[in-house]
Amino acid sequence: MFSQTYLDVALLCHPIFAIISLRHPKMQVKHSVLHYFLFSFGSLLVLRYAFSSYFPMAAERHVQSCTSVDQPNPIASLYPNNATGVLNGTVAVLPISLKLARQLIPPQYGILEHVYRSLLPDFPRGMYPAIVQAVHDHEVQAFGYLIPDFTRTGIEFPFVDLLNDNQTSFKWAPSLLMTAGHDIALNGAIEYGTKVFPAAFEPQCDAYRVVPNSKRPGTSYFGARSAEAGAASLTTLFSSTEKEIFPLDFFKNFTNQPTFADAKTCDNMIRLFNTSVTTSPNGIEPVKGTVRAHLYPFSEEREWKSVYGLRFASAFVENNYLPCESFRGYDGHE
Ligand SMILES: *[C@@H]1O[C@H](CO)[C@@H](O)[C@H](O)[C@H]1NC(C)=O
Ligand SMILES: *[C@@H]1O[C@H](CO)[C@@H](O)[C@H](O)[C@H]1NC(C)=O
Ligand SMILES: *[C@@H]1O[C@H](CO)[C@@H](O)[C@H](O)[C@H]1NC(C)=O
Ligand SMILES: *[C@@H]1O[C@H](CO)[C@@H](O)[C@H](O)[C@H]1NC(C)=O
Ligand SMILES: *[C@@H]1O[C@H](CO)[C@@H](O)[C@H](O)[C@H]1NC(C)=O
Repeated sequence: MFSQTYLDVALLCHPIFAIISLRHPKMQVKHSVLHYFLFSFGSLLVLRYAFSSYFPMAAERHVQSCTSVDQPNPIASLYPNNATGVLNGTVAVLPISLKLARQLIPPQYGILEHVYRSLLPDFPRGMYPAIVQAVHDHEVQAFGYLIPDFTRTGIEFPFVDLLNDNQTSFKWAPSLLMTAGHDIALNGAIEYGTKVFPAAFEPQCDAYRVVPNSKRPGTSYFGARSAEAGAASLTTLFSSTEKEIFPLDFFKNFTNQPTFADAKTCDNMIRLFNTSVTTSPNGIEPVKGTVRAHLYPFSEEREWKSVYGLRFASAFVENNYLPCESFRGYDGHE
């Protein structure tokens, strides 16, 4: 199991090393370097597939048997040397008291209340906008190497003053429910210090499921339950709404804040709102609904009713494991 993961990681990183060595000024004999790169990549690929046919694991089969209705990744060829993908799902605002936010967010980090108030002047006094994201990661790839789709959900805390500069907003994402058996995604999140709960999802291979014959139009369901019984769960039920409580710019802002868990490194997930998967008619649907979560850092199960959010898909570019300090003054337009 581990060997297979390492082979996957080796395959994923291989082109990076190849590019580094090709760009290295002292590497004069470029042909033989390229030759070596192609040969070792080929060998790894053979090993990788030998492994999966000798040890076909249930989880692996489960991950790969998924077919999604999601649209293809529209930017893979635009950024061939970056990690890109499509995120499809629901993002909503979970208002909690500032007092509770202060208890949950590690005490060494301030909360940038003046920043979220500049974006949401009417947000109720004494409250803080926590965020729920329930998304399906589709056609995630880099250097032409595609990983199987996976699903993840968690509650996140934006507008955190990680650098203590009273200006740059970071998003604290301390925990995730994530597709069980998907070792690349699970280990990728664990590297950030995230509390990761391998989980089963409903629907299994898509962002949400339309509830048939619902009284409310455009009702969709999403559910996640940890493989370890009772450790974590999250369900959402959202319906279309005409009312847009929060402006789109607010969603663009917090979804693009650099994200951290233990703050040793930061994740720069750039969600693009201008590609075909988002700009198609009804590409962004305002929704209202209920979220129920039993998930760290909340100490008990909680339910939020009548919360507002957006159901949409977006393409993304992701730059992983960067020094958090490098985001001082980051405004999402670099
Ligand atoms: C997002 O997921 C929903 C539910 O599976 C699907 O109906 C929709 O077509 C997807 N959107 C895109 C752009 O892939
Ligand atoms: C793509 O990756 C390179 C190298 O890691 C990085 O410098 C660049 O900013 C990334 N592109 C985008 C659009 O994030
Ligand atoms: C942070 O900046 C805001 C807006 O400029 C200001 O009102 C607030 O007093 C500052 N907080 C600290 C702790 O300096
Ligand atoms: C979409 O937005 C990104 C970043 O905001 C920009 O780099 C890119 O050129 C835009 N693409 C199109 C097709 O407008
Ligand atoms: C979020 O909004 C604040 C306030 O307008 C701005 O300073 C910041 O650059 C924005 N951040 C992102 C990632 O868009």
